[in-house]
Amino acid sequence: MADALGEVIAKIKDRLDILEVVSERVILKKSGSHYWGLCPFHKEKTPSFSVNPNLGIYKCFSCGEGGDAISFLMKIDGKSFMEVIRDLAEKYGYELPATGGGSSAGMRELKEQMIKACAKAADYYKTYLLQDKSSETLKAMKYLTDRGITKDIIEEYNIGLASSKYTGLYDILRAKFKDEVLEKAGLILESRETGYIDRFRNRIIIPIRNEHGEFVAFGARAIMPEQSPKYLNSSDSLIYNKSKLLYGLYHAKDAIKEENAVILMEGYFDVISAQAHGVKNCVATCGTSLTAEHIKLLSRYTPARRIYLSFDTDSAGQKATKRNAELIKEAFTGLGSIKQFDENYLALSDDKYSCEIRVIAPPEGKDPDEFIRSVGAESYREYIKHAPLLLDFQINCVLKERKDIKTPLEKAELVKKVIPLLQEINNQIVQGEYVKSVADVLEIDEKALLTEVRKKSRAMRAPQPDVSRIVTKNITPAQKAQKNLLSVFLVADNPLNFKQINEKVPDNLFSDETLKIVKSTIDKLICTVNNVKELIEELYTSFIDNPEIHKLITEMIGIAETFSGLDTEDFDALIDENIATIDKCQADEKRKQLRESYINANDDDVKALMIQMQIRDQIK
Ligand code: CTP
Ligand code: MN
Repeated sequence: MADALGEVIAKIKDRLDILEVVSERVILKKSGSHYWGLCPFHKEKTPSFSVNPNLGIYKCFSCGEGGDAISFLMKIDGKSFMEVIRDLAEKYGYELPATGGGSSAGMRELKEQMIKACAKAADYYKTYLLQDKSSETLKAMKYLTDRGITKDIIEEYNIGLASSKYTGLYDILRAKFKDEVLEKAGLILESRETGYIDRFRNRIIIPIRNEHGEFVAFGARAIMPEQSPKYLNSSDSLIYNKSKLLYGLYHAKDAIKEENAVILMEGYFDVISAQAHGVKNCVATCGTSLTAEHIKLLSRYTPARRIYLSFDTDSAGQKATKRNAELIKEAFTGLGSIKQFDENYLALSDDKYSCEIRVIAPPEGKDPDEFIRSVGAESYREYIKHAPLLLDFQINCVLKERKDIKTPLEKAELVKKVIPLLQEINNQIVQGEYVKSVADVLEIDEKALLTEVRKKSRAMRAPQPDVSRIVTKNITPAQKAQKNLLSVFLVADNPLNFKQINEKVPDNLFSDETLKIVKSTIDKLICTVNNVKELIEELYTSFIDNPEIHKLITEMIGIAETFSGLDTEDFDALIDENIATIDKCQADEKRKQLRESYINANDDDVKALMIQMQIRDQIK
């Protein structure tokens, strides 16, 4: 059985991708061969947290925390090794040998049942809409047809209808699922007088799927104008967290990756309409405001962190644009500056900025759904193509207001609004150009505006990750050399194989107790692992319950990185140098000890003589 478990663990490790695991929790930005982000284990404003996808490890240069994908999950969720393995086995669909962990198996079963119940419910609502011929279904069909929702779209998005009957769904599902499952899934409510009744009645049903395509919740739109609320949404449950889920992501994810950009919209129907018309890379929150979790989720699919905001173009929509843009900027704090200018003549690295926010703003008062249906997807695509960067959009919005100005005071108010925007521009020359044109449009003195803008300009460059801030402790040269020698095993591109290194590095060099333990573990592991990445994984796993050694391994991986790119000759020299240091330190140490004992043995002539001879030998 232990073997079976080991096999599953090996399979899981094989599947694990450190980038995927970490970027579910941390926004990462590529720089060189590493990815950088804000450390989730301590508070910081500039990123010192790095992920090395080649070795499958992470490390924070500020707090020293580090490890592989499994230890990341253990640390961040406060879980044990086996708990993490169990979660991952479930996620990847591997069967773990039974260990009698009753409660978590029960929980898994419950969640599975809830997901199945939601899928069945979605199917029931859709079938009712498409096949029933009562007056309520015909009315719902007409409503949807008027909104441009065709049969194909209904099929694709599983749109349905909840009848006005109290127990339409319950009557069907109660035979297949326990009441507890249906209630926890938010499909039924318990009423004191009549027992269970359907939660959704007399509404258009929009099933909500998670990014894996599982049905987990519902949005339900009123059909009559007098029905309130307009949308009734599922509450959070064991399988649904609306702060972490984006509507449409399941259909959009490939397109988001392909375009390296995502369009954020406000409503279910905006997303359905846009996607049905071929604009696939769009998502919306499910009747809740945007959160940092949503933004992390999106960052996983768009490495360039290019986000288009496409809300209503009325003033409520503009407020939403502003609010969401602030949230997005905040989520990316520390990863560099937000893209402010189009520099299409410069084909530099694709990943210079913390994020790129653009605004899709077709003419007044229309949301994306209405716009695409009335004006067409082609025209919408043009708006995407020419979507201004956030800053340009915001400055333009203020400048547009100049038409309503009647008094000098109102003009001063307008200038007040535009100054903070101009202050955000972090390139002084470009800022000067902007000031010139804004002063021109508003018919004010350019110099006066420039003075105001520069007064408290907060254009600050976000500092780049500072790798030099590695914490080095007080250790002796011998300890340092021993650490170096062990790190030699962890050099990813080393020119020697494990056996060759091991022959060069004898065990008796290690005096530090911890290093001795690590060395003997390495000795064992190198007989079974195939490469450095596996060695690191196995090392971390071997010391999974020893945070001290865990830190040491992380430190050694850091040292190993500084040894990369050496040819055989340099590599040999590196090993020899460190062995020489250790030898010398050991000899010094021995001499010192002998001298001390010579002094102590002064009144014992024979002993003193023997020691004297030993010292002479040593010096020779
Ligand atoms: N919403 C909600 N609850 C409400 C109103 C709105 O959850 N009472 C959410 C829904 O997710 C909806 C989105 O906010 O899709 C946008 O709502 P709104 O702008 O009011 O409506 P539209 O998307 O234009 O809805 P419709 O097109 O159906 O009129
Ligand atoms: Mn709408």
